[in-house]
Amino acid sequence: MRFLLFSASLRNDSLNTRLVKLAAEIIEKNGGSVDYAIMSEFDCPSFNQDLEINNSHPKGAEEFRKRILANDAFIISSPEYNGSMPGMIKNTIDWVSRFRPQPFNQHQALLMSASPSMGGGNKALWSLRIPLEHLGVRVYPDMFSLAAAHKAFTPEGKIIDETLSKRFEETLVAFMNLVEAAKHYPCIKKAWVEFLGEKTDHVTERVE
Ligand SMILES: Cc1cc2nc3c(=O)[nH]c(=O)nc-3n(C[C@H](O)[C@H](O)[C@H](O)COP(=O)(O)O)c2cc1C
Repeated sequence: MRFLLFSASLRNDSLNTRLVKLAAEIIEKNGGSVDYAIMSEFDCPSFNQDLEINNSHPKGAEEFRKRILANDAFIISSPEYNGSMPGMIKNTIDWVSRFRPQPFNQHQALLMSASPSMGGGNKALWSLRIPLEHLGVRVYPDMFSLAAAHKAFTPEGKIIDETLSKRFEETLVAFMNLVEAAKHYPCIKKAWVEFLGEKTDHVTERVE
């Protein structure tokens, strides 16, 4: 199984980057292969429909699309900004949603977050879940949020608390098993319809 992993933070000393690097180690230890990306590869100018000339997309959106399609699943570790996801990741999702076929549809994803706060950035994940599910992503029901993340890691980048560390690995392994099952034993094919009942025309073009 191939997994795309990235942190939705551009910050050098990002806690989410630490968490996603640990996730990458655990996936490899459990037999998965990792395609590790950095958010700057997917960064896009502010979305503006007027920039969609001749079906053109910014480089960051092209790259994210390519990497989603090249992997069996993706994992995002996202900061929480003001009780929600960072604008940058939503902006990239909006750009990528404009490709046809719509690349998110039917892809598996796992969401995680890290924050110095006691909520661990969990609200960011609920907000991130909304556009992803809207676009047909199978967002894994369990999410992992690391609270007090500035104090949670050993110098080697492991999670200090043993119970949490075990829970983190169990969540990742359960997700890996689901991705494998979804790839090898597909039993549902589902169409993606952004707004049920609408008719395709040059304004909407949102049904596949
Ligand atoms: C604009 C802004 C808003 C923030 N809002 C929240 C918040 O609502 N909840 C929270 O837990 N942390 C919040 N934080 C703190 C971030 O969780 C913290 O800076 C974290 O380290 C960012 O993730 P990173 O280390 O991966 O860059 C906010 C930080 C910034 C810069």
